[in-house]
Amino acid sequence: MRVILAPMEGVMDPLMRQVFTEINNYDLCVTEFVRVVEQRLPEKVFRRLCPELDQGGKTLAGTPVRVQLLGQHPQWMAENAAIAAELGSPGIDLNFGCPAKSVNRSNGGAVMLKTPEQIHQVVSQVRAAVPAHLPVTAKVRLGWDSGDRAMEIADAAASGGAAELVIHARTKEDGYRAERIDWPAIAPIAKALTIPVIANGEIWNRADALACQQQSGCEDIMLGRGALAVPNLANVVRGTESAYSWSQVAALMADYAEREIGGEKSIYFPNRVKQWLRYILMQYPQAEPFFVELRVLRCVDAIVELLKREQERAFELEQRGEPVF
Ligand SMILES: Cc1cc2nc3c(=O)[nH]c(=O)nc-3n(C[C@H](O)[C@H](O)[C@H](O)COP(=O)(O)O)c2cc1C
Repeated sequence: MRVILAPMEGVMDPLMRQVFTEINNYDLCVTEFVRVVEQRLPEKVFRRLCPELDQGGKTLAGTPVRVQLLGQHPQWMAENAAIAAELGSPGIDLNFGCPAKSVNRSNGGAVMLKTPEQIHQVVSQVRAAVPAHLPVTAKVRLGWDSGDRAMEIADAAASGGAAELVIHARTKEDGYRAERIDWPAIAPIAKALTIPVIANGEIWNRADALACQQQSGCEDIMLGRGALAVPNLANVVRGTESAYSWSQVAALMADYAEREIGGEKSIYFPNRVKQWLRYILMQYPQAEPFFVELRVLRCVDAIVELLKREQERAFELEQRGEPVF
């Protein structure tokens, strides 16, 4: 089984990729999307979103990081893909699944699911512009408002020359609603295509991963929000570790916090931590009182201090075998 860390705009930035690939055995990461309009983007845009380009296209833990592009114009997508390849990206991923309104107004992301022919055009022109040894891959949903054209969409990407395809098993209209996840809808596609298909969506633990593999017929999976909620989820789904305890999660966050405040994005830090914690709360309800305390803090030092205090408190309770509330 390959386990891939999902692209998550505004969340899975370079430091988060570093943190997650240090503690997990991921096969691959994908960057937040580079939005392509009608121009050749300056190199600094690629380097900012993917500083790993200057590290041989890998995180410091050695996990490859593929640049993701989002846009609708085949020619501009191709030209920018060529730049990313030239800069050292170990492949190019194309985003045809982003549901954000601002993105879809400019005709990138999930809106392309309405016109599989356009997906085909983008994939094939990008394929032609990138050296043959580098994979061009695509990420799609099952469709815009129904899964009726899922096979056509997948085929458009595959026949355009995609080396593999990630399918998020919901439509754009489904958003992120848990009950709409449809792993079995991937199965006929995985069977029909000759390229590897990677299943994505709603995997929060090992049982989900195994059920997803079984129902989708896919060997490989991609983890999104679950990877944020259970920080060592890749190892959990591989069966090599059990899920971190709350004190381990708090320790990891404290470590992240100390690295983030040294970095250039430190002004965003309080919001970053709160955003990440919202996902963690889904799997660690014992973190709720801590979150209430943290939510009102604006000052970075106070947040770091609170994280460290919480880690020590939770660790002592866990050592004594007492519930952490
Ligand atoms: C905050 C957030 C940002 C995302 N940004 C991207 C993105 O930049 N590119 C992309 O292809 N998908 C993006 N996605 C979709 C995820 O990669 C993934 O397909 C989706 O979350 C379903 O997987 P999950 O149920 O495991 O979270 C994003 C999802 C979230 C929650």
